[in-house]
Amino acid sequence: MTRANAPEYMSGFGNHFATEAVAGALPEGRNSPQRVPMGLYAEQLSGTAFTAPRSENRRSWLYRLRPSAQHPAYKPFAQGRVRSGPFHDAPPSPNRMRWDPLPMPDAPTDWVEGLVTYGGNGDAEAGAGTGIHLYAANRSMVDRVFYCADGELLIVPQAGHQVFVTEMGRIDARPGEIVVIPRGVRFRVECANPDGGPIRGYVCENYGAAFRLPDLGPIGSNGLANPRDFQTPVAAFEDVDRPTECVQKFGGRLWTTTFDHSPLDVVGWHGNHAPYKYDTARFNTIGTVSFDHPDPSIFTVLTSPSDTPGVANCDFVIFPPRWMVAEDTFRPPWFHRNVMSEFMGLVTGEYDAKEGGFAPGGASLHNCMSGHGPDQASYDKAVAADLKPVKIENTLAFMFETRMPIRTTEWAQTSPTMQLDYDDVWTGFDKGRVE
Ligand SMILES: [Fe+2]
Repeated sequence: MTRANAPEYMSGFGNHFATEAVAGALPEGRNSPQRVPMGLYAEQLSGTAFTAPRSENRRSWLYRLRPSAQHPAYKPFAQGRVRSGPFHDAPPSPNRMRWDPLPMPDAPTDWVEGLVTYGGNGDAEAGAGTGIHLYAANRSMVDRVFYCADGELLIVPQAGHQVFVTEMGRIDARPGEIVVIPRGVRFRVECANPDGGPIRGYVCENYGAAFRLPDLGPIGSNGLANPRDFQTPVAAFEDVDRPTECVQKFGGRLWTTTFDHSPLDVVGWHGNHAPYKYDTARFNTIGTVSFDHPDPSIFTVLTSPSDTPGVANCDFVIFPPRWMVAEDTFRPPWFHRNVMSEFMGLVTGEYDAKEGGFAPGGASLHNCMSGHGPDQASYDKAVAADLKPVKIENTLAFMFETRMPIRTTEWAQTSPTMQLDYDDVWTGFDKGRVE
């Protein structure tokens, strides 16, 4: 029996939600009563230390058909192309890198099998840094679920209709939306294209503090991503007595065990450690209405802070459709060198600093202090432009911007998708004329 509601959501960011798939499943007035209604098992899922300050604390109470503890020992699972921090797979490189789109698989490949790590930084066990992965899959996970003990997963679907069936409810996602799955929450990914076509996307595995909305400072109490546009699924569960493999990432390695039932069996839950999705089309993009190009931090959707105020473990930044109205201004992103390291992806369209070569499903890396900026064609167009208001449309680029240099994996450095001529986009600029 499966009681899987059609995806249905509760609005708000970081709320303490309470939801039940069957009326009466949630205990009233107690988290762990002597007897849970319907003979369910109470389980606390702690995403932060018990004693984390209230503003940081994330935990949920789950009421499930069987205890999560009921499974045999984990054994190593085929590691495939998944790597983890600390990244010592290949020597660190200061070079600018760009990759063609991750190819869609030929052989049957599910979401777990289709994960490919491009790089990352920090140390999963130390709780700082990120892992950066892409995925391409052409079949749903069947009798298999996954969870990440090393970090929270911020997922950016790039191609195809994707359904994330989680312990805490179903999330339906399409390119343009993002999905965040907290550390420890089990899920499977279904390819939901009507024609059975493949899916693809990007993942930021956040080893650090959970993503949250950035402070708005002088912007005021509205703007950027608004809390009510974040959607957390209502409870939905499976009552399936069939062997179900559970793959987890723990300590950088993949592990597997088999439950004799589906562990997606949470009938009701309450708390704030929960998955959510967000439609980037809801982002209230703010920019200059006079001159100059603001720092891209103005486009921050979510931030994972570090212990240093204002210096993010990771920012998730988008470059969505928007009006450009600045006067006497070089409008595309300027040339710059940045102490933060920038990994970019493109969901759709074209990015305004590059005239080609950066394709949907592709990626680029501009590491700490590496010089980058517009290519020659974009530069020439921008300096010659008649600066009328212009709307950039049909595009969605994004960036995982992180405080530590990103070490790429051996796969990323040797993949045939790597563009060996990327440096050439910055050759041939005329010299400035000093008179
Ligand atoms: Fe940059």
